[in-house]
Amino acid sequence: VLKIGSAVAGGGHHLSQDYPDPFTGDAAYRDLLGREFTSLSAENQMKWDAIHPAPDTYDFAAPDAIAAFARANGQDVRGHTLLWHNQNPSWLTEGDHTPDELRAILRDHIQTVVGRYAGTIQQWDVANEVFDDSGNLRTQDNIWIRELGPGIIADAFRWAHEADPDALLFFNDYNVEGVNAKSDAYYALVQDLLADGVPVHGFAAQGHLSIRYGFPGDLAQNLQRFADLGLATALTEVDVRMDLPDGATPTEAQLTQQADYYQRMLEGCLAVDGCDSFTVWGLPDTYSWVPHTFPGEGAATVLWEDLTRKPAYLALQDTLAEA
Ligand code: G3I
Repeated sequence: VLKIGSAVAGGGHHLSQDYPDPFTGDAAYRDLLGREFTSLSAENQMKWDAIHPAPDTYDFAAPDAIAAFARANGQDVRGHTLLWHNQNPSWLTEGDHTPDELRAILRDHIQTVVGRYAGTIQQWDVANEVFDDSGNLRTQDNIWIRELGPGIIADAFRWAHEADPDALLFFNDYNVEGVNAKSDAYYALVQDLLADGVPVHGFAAQGHLSIRYGFPGDLAQNLQRFADLGLATALTEVDVRMDLPDGATPTEAQLTQQADYYQRMLEGCLAVDGCDSFTVWGLPDTYSWVPHTFPGEGAATVLWEDLTRKPAYLALQDTLAEA
């Protein structure tokens, strides 16, 4: 059965002080998370800067709270993320570590974090966004690949597997919904890693789309080729943004197109055997990352700020009812 997930916003890590912390301070939001979803993802709470704020300090308060909430609601948890070029603490990025020290730091982090949640977190985005849009490994901005070489990716998967042999271990990236240079690069890397016996179990496309651009119509075909390698697939961070210059309200046409993109992403996942989960990257629009990163764009989630449903919500609901 396809799991339907949401990112969890807040828990001490939220984007604006203009509203209460979503996870700890918005009862309607918590209620929604518990009621509507069978899987939860940590939007920020398990990233390095949040969970490992100082060399000898781990902060498990927010991840523990998400894990407990999920357990109480019978939900799965997707862990996000272990090896990434963003949201790393300054002690790491600005520290003066030898390659041997960096390896030990990464191994300790993965074993500590994955080990703590063994049996509670069923899937990890082990490696996040390791390629750029041209399909080149991020050898400059990813500290691990830059300092330790591409082989560190395989090590990260091996360490995570040692720490929790039952967890499904994923690659996760954006702009890999369709067949393109970037998803081709993943396809080649996954084939190499599998040939070497590296425990890679999943390939996830994040699904951050904009109606400004065309829909990746070969999404199912792309996921299917990874499924044919024996991998689980997933859509892990789905949202569909639109241009809203000067705070404009979405038009009917924009909302219709947004609903169509959401629906086609869900249909793409449903069409592929082993597409394991479809996760929206938060809701309602109030808590969306989009306007902070793309000023003049927004309304990317399936719920309005007052939690009423957009056409996109109804389109997903209808598609699931027919599946
Ligand atoms: O924790 C501080 C808080 O103290 C401060 O008051 C607030 C105001 O600026 O900022 C808070 O940090 C923010 C953090 O989210 C926690 O909310 C950062 O500024 C902000 O940059 C960060 O944004 C996150 C972004 O990743 C950063 O890379 C978004 O919430 C999150 O949705 C986004 O998620 C990523 C996925 O992990 C990977 N794929 C792409 C996706 C969208 O960018």
